[in-house]
Amino acid sequence: MNILLLGSGGREHALAWKIKQSPKTDTLYIAPGNAGTATIGINVPVAATDFEALKKLTLEKNIQLVVVGPEEPLVKGIYDFFKHDEHLQSIPVIGPSQAGAQLEGSKDFAKAFMMRHRIPTAKYLSVTKANITDGIVFLKTVSAPYVLKADGLAAGKGVLIMNDLEEAIRELTAMLNGSFGKASETVVIEEFLSGIECSVFVMTDGSHYKILPEAKDYKRIGEGDTGLNTGGMGAVSPVPFADAGFMQKVEERIIVPTIEGLKKENIDYKGFIFIGLINVNGQPMVIEYNCRLGDPETEVVMLRIQSDLVDLLEGIAHGNLSEQELVFDDRTAVTVMLVSGGYPGDYVKGKTISELDKVQNSIAFHAGTTQKDGKIITNGGRVIAVSSYGKTKTDALQQSFANAQIIDFEGKYYRKDIGFDL
Ligand code: AMP
Ligand code: GLY
Repeated sequence: MNILLLGSGGREHALAWKIKQSPKTDTLYIAPGNAGTATIGINVPVAATDFEALKKLTLEKNIQLVVVGPEEPLVKGIYDFFKHDEHLQSIPVIGPSQAGAQLEGSKDFAKAFMMRHRIPTAKYLSVTKANITDGIVFLKTVSAPYVLKADGLAAGKGVLIMNDLEEAIRELTAMLNGSFGKASETVVIEEFLSGIECSVFVMTDGSHYKILPEAKDYKRIGEGDTGLNTGGMGAVSPVPFADAGFMQKVEERIIVPTIEGLKKENIDYKGFIFIGLINVNGQPMVIEYNCRLGDPETEVVMLRIQSDLVDLLEGIAHGNLSEQELVFDDRTAVTVMLVSGGYPGDYVKGKTISELDKVQNSIAFHAGTTQKDGKIITNGGRVIAVSSYGKTKTDALQQSFANAQIIDFEGKYYRKDIGFDL
């Protein structure tokens, strides 16, 4: 069948790599894709949020399955757009309805959902300009550090953690006055949880679910988890502390009530759920939901799935996910992200990337690249995710670091301590 994959990052290159391995895949189209996805399928210069153009493409190319990488088209309702269009409604979209995407699109919705279904998460209060004084009182009742989250999508930048109460009150006021635009018209104030984080990915057809390999992401730009937050600088799977006992708690206390909760609330959800977890003294608590896979976690999760991904995607689409097989690869997978100098602040695009052909025993998933005059050039902050297998985490990292050194572009930076805390 012909498959259309939406997005342009490392996650999408990894998904494309895995989808293409299926004997069921005829032509894979990627909109808009990057220089890496162009080596696997056909890139089409259409934005993942341009629904009318995607409709035209889907019908012209006889697409039979649409896989959505990033959150934005989901939060904007691409699932519903297909479902309510007479020409598109028979073509499955892997991703939740707009209502389901609220798990990521609105932190206030996600927290209220967790409360309704007794899913363990930090205590919170949602605040708007109308009840800012309640917000200030709440801040005074929790102890430092103070966690403020813009309710809406803020490109991963909408969470502020501060040690000083006065500063937290000032930031709360600024957020409600629009420091993150509409996204912070509502602010979620949370109790701070202390522990180590990991991400768990679930696929669901709305009634059945399968748990994918878990991963740990490294969000900060600097070694030792210091400096500004990024989209993610590397990832490791499996995560040693997410052992069978911990994962059983995650399944019973979080995954089951999430799937049941969506069903009870008649929320149409056929896609991936990304659960950002924190391990608080052995007890898993939810930090956030996302309505998609993670990036760079997908660059390790795809390596750890042995089964045919297209079978699983079809299971999601047709409601028979429980009949599909999901076998893990026992090896460790890691990814190390090469980024443009300056990222996550200002950085320059358009630098030539060289030595990609010298990569051995790793897969260089392209995150932010494009082609120009026959060359591959940088086209984003995160540029290449160097992903490797290993018998151990150390072996896998050695491969990725060796290739991270070889691949070159002006201003290249990467963290040399991925996996340091595991
Ligand atoms: P989020 O966008 O909700 O995942 O938050 C971004 C990051 O902020 C998380 O990955 C955590 O490291 C941190 N964070 C968010 N909420 C909390 C919390 N309640 N307690 C401690 N850290 C948090
Ligand atoms: N790596 C975190 C995310 O995809 O949101």
